[in-house]
Amino acid sequence: MTKPALRVAVTGAAGQIGYALLFRIAAGEMLGKDQPVILQLLEIPDEKAQKALNGVIMELDDCAFPLLQGVTAHSDPRTAFKDADVALLVGARPRGPGMERKDLLTVNAQIFTAQGKALNDVASRNVKVLVVGNPANTNAYIAMKSAPDLPSRNFTAMLRLDHNRALTQLAAKAGVAVSEIEKLIVWGNHSPTMYPDFRFATLAGKPALSVVNDDDWNRNVFIPTVGKRGAAIIDARGLSSAASAANAAIDHVRDWILGSNGKWVTMGVPSDGSYGIPEGVIYGVPVITKNGEYAVVKDLEIDAFSRERMDFTLKELLEERDGVKHLL
Ligand code: NAD
Ligand code: LMR
Repeated sequence: MTKPALRVAVTGAAGQIGYALLFRIAAGEMLGKDQPVILQLLEIPDEKAQKALNGVIMELDDCAFPLLQGVTAHSDPRTAFKDADVALLVGARPRGPGMERKDLLTVNAQIFTAQGKALNDVASRNVKVLVVGNPANTNAYIAMKSAPDLPSRNFTAMLRLDHNRALTQLAAKAGVAVSEIEKLIVWGNHSPTMYPDFRFATLAGKPALSVVNDDDWNRNVFIPTVGKRGAAIIDARGLSSAASAANAAIDHVRDWILGSNGKWVTMGVPSDGSYGIPEGVIYGVPVITKNGEYAVVKDLEIDAFSRERMDFTLKELLEERDGVKHLL
């Protein structure tokens, strides 16, 4: 018997990530090959953006995806998010010339306040929200705070791209396949302050530290390479990562909804107070997902170096939170 369709709202749908994301969702790569979907796509009201969005929809039509039961274009979050089961908040204002980080936070705070309120008013009461648009953790925090009637735990930020980047760097160093690595973590903010941590990782079942016992590589190569990978992609492509970001968004939501089969994955989630992270701060942590829920992996030992790195990325998040407090 055919399952009822799930409604997936995507913002910034005519952008680069949108173009790499929508076709895969419609093909069943995010919610399952037996799960029909309806796409509800949001773009800014600007004529050019709406025209481009219409072009993307024409291409979706031309794929004749068997699972795609409908596609709608929107310029208002209140119609785009109506009854949404999943909301991928990708659209955000990029940093323009002469713009300070503070200005970026302010313009995005306005977008994510409005979108949080719209989700609160019209989305499914169990909508699962993934924020991709930067600054992702703080945008997710703003949306969560603007949606008091929805479960806070359903607001998440994307650190999966950082997690995947860390997997590949560690696999290359250790000479193993990425599929052999488990229990990797990226703590904190999706920014260069993030802390990729392989202290608990296993490589084909063996402790990673018994294979890669190289503190200099960890501090001076691994952590900065993963942390600055976004900037390295921008430098190489002249554009920020898009296909890898879309891929990570699919990984994040697929695992959240369909389960991670006991494996650790990194999600940016509102802190429950564990690891000394103040409650509510959206922070990258290891989770195991099952039946549409995530559980934070608890009671891991935090050594002095890790504490310092975790506090450093937390400090940045607290500053970002303080920077938008007056808007909430
Ligand atoms: P893009 O500029 O190609 O597309 C963004 C789209 O969003 C544009 O079409 C724009 O019109 C639209 N948009 C802007 N404001 C909107 C709003 N209020 N409502 C609806 N749509 C809106 O950018 P992109 O390359 O697709 O990247 C999107 C965002 O994702 C950026 O903020 C980028 O920095 C971020 N990003 C995050 C990660 C991550 O790992 N978390 C990785 C890569 C990129
Ligand atoms: C990325 O990590 O690729 C994006 O967040 C882009 C950026 O600005 O780093």
